[in-house]
Amino acid sequence: MKIDYYYEYPVDDRVKGVVMEVLQNRVHYAGKYSEGLEQGIADLCGVKHGVAANSGSSSLLMILHALGIGPGDEVIIPANTYVANAECVIVRGARPVFADCTADTMNLDPAAFEAAITPRTKAVIAVHKYGHPVDMDPIVAIARRRGIKVIENGCHALGALYKGRRVGSLGDCGFFALSHKLLSVCGMGGVTVTDDKRLATLVTQLRHHGRHGLHEHEYEMNCVGYNMRINEMQAAIGCVQLPLLDSWNAQRRENAAVYTRLIREAGLPVTPPVAKDYASHVYLHYVVRVKESRDRLLPFMNANGVEAKCHYPIPLHQQGPIVEAVGRQGPFPDAERACAEVMSLPCDPNMNEEKMRAVVDTMRRFFA
Ligand SMILES: Cc1ncc(COP(=O)(O)O)c(C=O)c1O
Repeated sequence: MKIDYYYEYPVDDRVKGVVMEVLQNRVHYAGKYSEGLEQGIADLCGVKHGVAANSGSSSLLMILHALGIGPGDEVIIPANTYVANAECVIVRGARPVFADCTADTMNLDPAAFEAAITPRTKAVIAVHKYGHPVDMDPIVAIARRRGIKVIENGCHALGALYKGRRVGSLGDCGFFALSHKLLSVCGMGGVTVTDDKRLATLVTQLRHHGRHGLHEHEYEMNCVGYNMRINEMQAAIGCVQLPLLDSWNAQRRENAAVYTRLIREAGLPVTPPVAKDYASHVYLHYVVRVKESRDRLLPFMNANGVEAKCHYPIPLHQQGPIVEAVGRQGPFPDAERACAEVMSLPCDPNMNEEKMRAVVDTMRRFFA
């Protein structure tokens, strides 16, 4: 049985209908679906403003720009996350400062965050990794005391809850990626969410060459910006899918519970993911930990038809171009251990117990 990693999002008549509509009406960006998607995601998060963009990385770059982060500034980032987080800080001319994660959730450790603060620290990027919310209360409390902006990276966690509140509504602003994630626009996409009107206005201008607005003062610039608007057809697909998000996330949670049961029943030497009491985990990635043999198990899974993955094998402070750009940092023992041990199993809403049994059985054959 071949088991793919990425969810095959349903392409039903509603999706076909909006795609045809956008093709025919020739509004290919900045139309009602772009606005609908950004407002829909803001509403989901319970915040006032949403600003769509052409990728999650673009959203982060524009947030950093709008917060005035540049040369001489530092931004604290977990050491074990996706490269875009460090890259955007470097592109702004600022310095990413890495911090270790907690051993269990593998998310940013509040104590490590506090220890990494210097007088130059302007912001922290709290990455809700794999779909498990970061323990935000201590991070927000420390940041508020020190005048540090809190940016939530919800790329893995759209719809997840922290103490009953949606991620994206817990810091100063948040952003989400919409490529092959919990919600997919069948391409790249991103959304910034915030209650801060000034920030939302600036990000809205930055994504369109710093221009004031589309209709009034059409070619008058407010600042130097980018061309980072979302494609209307993709936004339309996102609008059709958004109402399904919570049920897909619930299905992912059910799948995770089945995996954990099957792994325990099989007595495999792999550790299932933890979900803290404060978290409603949405399992974009169902990440097990495999001591020592991960680098042999992962190719074995792939060779046997299970598209397992690894998020992420190299901590940011050990990525060559990042070391070249910002110098050596570390060690970060928990992040390094996480990168050496993690393996992600297919967990999308199309999974069923038969497929999950096949995945677990493939691991069992490896260990046998
Ligand atoms: C944790 C995290 N941050 C940022 C990004 C960047 O998003 P995008 O690929 O849409 O630029 C991703 C994308 O996978 C991600 O996983």
